Amino acid sequence: MLKNFWYAVEFAHAVTRAPRRVTCLGQDFVLYRKRDGEVVCLSDLCVHRGAALSAGKLTGDRIACPYHGWQYEPDGACSRIPANPPGRGIPKKARVDSYPVREEYGLIWAFLGDLPEDERPPIPHFPEHDDPSFATVYVEMVIEANYERTFENVVDASHTPFVHGTRFGNPDRPEIPDYEIVQDDWSAVADIGLSPPPARGLWKRLYKEKPEEVLVTNGWYLPNIVKLHVRLPFGDMILYDHNVPLDRNRTLVKIVGYRNFFTGRWADRDARKRILSILLQDKPVVESQRPELLPYDLADELHLRSDSLQVAYRRRRRQLMAAGWWVGDEAQLPVNGARGSATVIPSPARRENPELARAWQHRARGGDPAPAGDPASVDAPAPAAEPVPAGEATATEGESE
Ligand code: FES
Ligand SMILES: [Fe+2]
Repeated sequence: MLKNFWYAVEFAHAVTRAPRRVTCLGQDFVLYRKRDGEVVCLSDLCVHRGAALSAGKLTGDRIACPYHGWQYEPDGACSRIPANPPGRGIPKKARVDSYPVREEYGLIWAFLGDLPEDERPPIPHFPEHDDPSFATVYVEMVIEANYERTFENVVDASHTPFVHGTRFGNPDRPEIPDYEIVQDDWSAVADIGLSPPPARGLWKRLYKEKPEEVLVTNGWYLPNIVKLHVRLPFGDMILYDHNVPLDRNRTLVKIVGYRNFFTGRWADRDARKRILSILLQDKPVVESQRPELLPYDLADELHLRSDSLQVAYRRRRRQLMAAGWWVGDEAQLPVNGARGSATVIPSPARRENPELARAWQHRARGGDPAPAGDPASVDAPAPAAEPVPAGEATATEGESE
């Protein structure tokens, strides 16, 4: 999983004044709107005793923890501790990570990383969103597979005749013509001519004659988005498929779908149904893939010319791993020590306050209260933590204020 990217963690319409928990990169976050409508994204874990802030209530623009009522500002600083008598200060370390947020294309994007603003990779441009000739639907589904498997599935043109034969590909014409990739640091896109299957259902009304070929633009945008632009004889259908890594083994697929035919709201249900049925065809196949995680080495799986978009992704991902942007891999971040350790995605404030950087660490999940299988050493002092990759914040023993 890659940090230092903007992740579309929720549909904008789902985020209100009621705090809402979302999960990404194995960590929980709370989203809510301030009184002016701006969205706040905080770590969902209160640094006092670890209760979920998303179960709390808003007081103005602050969120109050449901357990002992600590109140956190949108920037993550705690500004009220009800148990403290009047006049007692608030420890500087009493704060949670606050992540930059943007609202674009009907989605809430959180920047999950600590890069300063001018170094952050871009949110891709979705031109259809502001084009009034397009209607939009929002669809989501959880898939019990790693997000890179579900992500690669959508840029994989050659599976369509087999997995989606009746809906999307043509089993009688499974060949994939060689295609050119247009690539930059954050994306890779290709135009691919595919043979379509016969029209079904509502679309039959628009299909006069089945074309020999439809031009599909397919491509990925880091860290987890796939664009699929299908030029049908009667109009364009564009899907932006966000593969949100809930954790290593579960993915929340969020799709924003645009179409410039049947643009009445009455056709939304049909559009959503088509997208869901495609996802349901992919689900059992990607859930069956082994190894569950995408291999690191290119040579670990066999690639054909028709897999070039995936190969381009695997190459780029290796560069980002080398840059230290990879998180959540137990091989690199051993769960170690009497209190265990787990990844915390660092927010920009950690970089801005180096003296506090290790202060408000916490175990996000999975930490073990005692060393596994060694009950006798419950009271023993914690062994020294393993060194971790540079720039990675990990939880250690809880520190006092
Ligand atoms: S756990 Fe949040 S205030 Fe105590
Ligand atoms: Fe598919």
